[in-house]
Amino acid sequence: MEVTLGLWMGVLPLVGWLLWWWNDIWYVFRLKVRSSGGGTTTSNCPLPPGHMGVPFIGEMLTFLWYFKVLRRPDDYINSKRRKYGDGVGMYRTHLFKSPAIIACSASANRFVFQSDGNFILEWPTVEILGTNSLVAVQGAAHTRLRSFVSRAINQPDALRRIAIMVQPRIISVLESWAHQDTIVAFTESKKVTFQNIGKFFASFEPGPILDTLDVLFKGMVQGVRAYPLNIPGTAYHHGVQCRRKVEDIFREELEMRKKNPSDAKNDLMDGLMQLKDDEGMKLRDIEVIDNIVSLVVAGYESTSVAIMWALYYLAKYPNVLQKLREENMLISKKKKGELITSDDISKMKYTNKVVEETIRMANIAPIVFRTATKDVEYKGYKIPKGWKVILWVRYLHTDPENFTDPMCFNPDRWNEPTKPGTYQVFGGGSRTCAGNMLARIQVAIFLHHLAVGYKWELVNPNAKMIYLPHPKPVDGVEIVFSKIEEAK
Ligand code: HEM
Repeated sequence: MEVTLGLWMGVLPLVGWLLWWWNDIWYVFRLKVRSSGGGTTTSNCPLPPGHMGVPFIGEMLTFLWYFKVLRRPDDYINSKRRKYGDGVGMYRTHLFKSPAIIACSASANRFVFQSDGNFILEWPTVEILGTNSLVAVQGAAHTRLRSFVSRAINQPDALRRIAIMVQPRIISVLESWAHQDTIVAFTESKKVTFQNIGKFFASFEPGPILDTLDVLFKGMVQGVRAYPLNIPGTAYHHGVQCRRKVEDIFREELEMRKKNPSDAKNDLMDGLMQLKDDEGMKLRDIEVIDNIVSLVVAGYESTSVAIMWALYYLAKYPNVLQKLREENMLISKKKKGELITSDDISKMKYTNKVVEETIRMANIAPIVFRTATKDVEYKGYKIPKGWKVILWVRYLHTDPENFTDPMCFNPDRWNEPTKPGTYQVFGGGSRTCAGNMLARIQVAIFLHHLAVGYKWELVNPNAKMIYLPHPKPVDGVEIVFSKIEEAK
């Protein structure tokens, strides 16, 4: 009995120790074997400091502890800084089923974003996003597609058109909010963003097709976030099924347009169908469809979340709302009832600062992934081939060394330029968000119509926050919303 107890007392701590260090031992061993089989220049570099956790799940439980239980996501990185020092702004870990290097300083992020030859973007869920979509293709094919998409949605001509196209819906939706007791900003902003996207992407008006697409896109977004296991019953499988149905709807629309070329609609689908590259080549049908589908996925929820946060912060910071209102009232008086244009928006200095501050604090894409295509050295440390690099962009925006009093909503901080590389809300390098200007202009238009015509209050000003998949208050920002009568 005593012998058994003694054995257990000795064995258990050993097993615990082994489990705790398993991934560190296992991956370092594998790297040693690999480099002894054919040395590279980085063979002798150590890995960045860190801890890779227990077999299979790595540090996932620690990550969830900070993000879901403590609800202090930035302390995940703070705890590493305390334990291992600032070093070069990189730590090794094992997250999301892969050995990984976290990059959480401005210079480490910039290095990764700018090194296309060393790191690629790999979506495990391209079957849903579309294998011909901008997010899925690499190299020259990516450059070519990016120029198409950018011209169609993110450049001045496109923005001028889109700014006018989206406003009637925003105006009528705000009217309708004022007739309800309370609204949930996240739910409602999603509805209006989707209707607007339907309109300027494919001229779909509210009705049965758009309702069906709404349901199908929700299934796709869930599939994109799920583990890519394509068997019946999984969210991923459902996402793939939804994608097929979405593709059928867009294909039917595209065929109709090809039969009636004179019936131009001036929307994204027409734009993508007509654009030619430098060699006079047009996009193939499947490229048009894949890109529309992936743009909806990329732009729909992100823009809605930004609008939700604008409503939240403006309710919490009435002094900011007041200044916003003053600037927008002035423009509104000059316009005498006409819609504002993208040129008007570019002159609205304070409004643009509110947009930027909202997007900084919203941290809609808190982390961004890359995969190392070869062994890479960064300031004496090794990033091994095949490992994920997790660009912790959220931390750049919440680190007091980059933004003074970072959790304070202060649009005036944008009077000064930011420190280089510290503002990466839209990512960086060749993969910088292809809809960044479109997102900004949509939020600005919303702010304009909100500020000149409406007031609102948070129903739960102290609502708890959730941080996955996006940061948002648990109630989705429930507000009491009404018209400002004097504004009429
Ligand atoms: C506030 C709203 C938005 C935020 C915070 C945001 C953020 C981002 C980020 C961080 C990336 C880089 C991902 C990476 O490097 O892996 C990205 C890429 C992308 N975004 Fe956005 N986005 C927003 C709105 C939009 C909108 C409205 C669209 C279009 C309708 C859009 C389309 C795209 C596309 C197509 C890419 C991939 C670009 C490429 O791979 O070349 N995004 N976005």
